Amino acid sequence: MAKNKDPVNFLFNHKPGRFKSLEPDEELLKLEEEIKRRELMLDHDVRQWMSIAKLGNDKNSLWAKQQIQLILETDRIEDMTTGDVFRPLAPEQLLSQGDLLLFNQVDGSPWKIPLDALTRGVLLTGPQGGGKTRFLISICKQLDNADIPFFILDPKLGLKQWANYLNATYIDVDDISIDLSPPPGLTYEQFLPALMPQLGEIIGVIFGIELLQEAAQICIGQRNEYIKTGKQTEISVKDLYDAIPFVRNASSGRRAGYKDGLMTGLSRILSGSGNLFSCRKGVDLATLFNSNVILGCRSVVDDFAIKFLGLFMLFWLYESGRYSLPSNKLRRVLVFDDASRFLANSAGSEFSTKTSSLTNIFSCLRSSGNGFITTTQVPHLADPGIVALSHTTICVGGLHYEKDTKTIAQMMGLNKDQRVAINHLANREAIGISAGTAWPKVVHGHTVDVPEVK
Ligand SMILES: Nc1ncnc2c1ncn2[C@@H]1O[C@H](COP(=O)(O)OP(=O)(O)OP(=O)(O)O)[C@@H](O)[C@H]1O
Ligand SMILES: [Mg+2]
Repeated sequence: MAKNKDPVNFLFNHKPGRFKSLEPDEELLKLEEEIKRRELMLDHDVRQWMSIAKLGNDKNSLWAKQQIQLILETDRIEDMTTGDVFRPLAPEQLLSQGDLLLFNQVDGSPWKIPLDALTRGVLLTGPQGGGKTRFLISICKQLDNADIPFFILDPKLGLKQWANYLNATYIDVDDISIDLSPPPGLTYEQFLPALMPQLGEIIGVIFGIELLQEAAQICIGQRNEYIKTGKQTEISVKDLYDAIPFVRNASSGRRAGYKDGLMTGLSRILSGSGNLFSCRKGVDLATLFNSNVILGCRSVVDDFAIKFLGLFMLFWLYESGRYSLPSNKLRRVLVFDDASRFLANSAGSEFSTKTSSLTNIFSCLRSSGNGFITTTQVPHLADPGIVALSHTTICVGGLHYEKDTKTIAQMMGLNKDQRVAINHLANREAIGISAGTAWPKVVHGHTVDVPEVK
């Protein structure tokens, strides 16, 4: 009977051979180096041949090295035929360390990361029609299956018809209002003064914050008087606006200028958002944040209004977690589809700083178990703090604008060829990186199929 040449049997029956050279094997070291470079260390066959090459006698070692050469040659040929500058591929074993499927690598291996990685932020980018919203749907479906609530701000109504599929409640901002009541456990006296600087930052009146604080105190005083009568009421943005004329010493000089700036900014928030911020009794945000909710906000047209909506939601959550213990365990996920309007940096404003106060809010929110996914077509305009805090970055489809590809290349640590290749990604073709996971390097693949719902 012919000798059994099956490497598996050979490996297990193998004892170091009698004719084993003790010289350092330069050829094997070179092969090993290329295996590492091509990320083939975890390949089952490569491991077996390496073992034989190292431990076998000279004859078997030579045979094993030839087999390794063949594997490497096949890989080199694939480099050439695919022209894929994102190669080497990630080993399947390292891509499968988690429960959340992001997308499939080009060889079909599913790329999964731990759910908890979402607390370290996800920035999703890509051109119009690239497949960002569908990608979000595939993620939210998995969150629902894992019983993790998600809250989506949807400025394009792109998710409305998916509410049923995602087991979510769809709410349109036209049908609700949001008051400024503090989260459970906090008083207006604690909450409003902390909110005013954020509001001032959005409407660009950094020097008028003092007036805003005084207006807030007027509102709090009036409310306290009112609730003495035994009735209940809350404070709205409209109340703040109405209180500004009553702020003292603001009829001349610099304070008069600040007052005008405040009135203009607040009136933009009010008029650009229908009745969203005008009523004293708004939705219960605690309930909203603990179930699957899609908040359609297409009718919020003004930039200040949409930024305030995004910021207020985040700030409210941030303050509600003020006394909770830090945790890396994922408790909920906040999704900003088309976040460029909510989270754009305020470049051009004379008061703009490199990072806004959002950065601080984001970093605190994540330490209380909130995951984030923000999507944008223009990553170079995103708040730099948000970009820095997004440890997972995914680009679905080709981006062309130089500043955008540069931002992505920096975030993913891409080389020049890879950066150029971002231009040529097809719709649904994706590249991504997730720092701090089992495979913290670039993955290239395609998003999973999410067919149209009937
Ligand atoms: N994963 C997918 N499965 C099936 N179809 C998809 C998928 N991704 C994208 N598509 C198709 O491409 C279209 C555009 O996708 P999508 O709405 O997700 O793009 P987008 O990046 O969110 O675009 P925009 O920037 O305009 O919001 C979808 O209507 C769908 O027909
Ligand atoms: Mg979209």
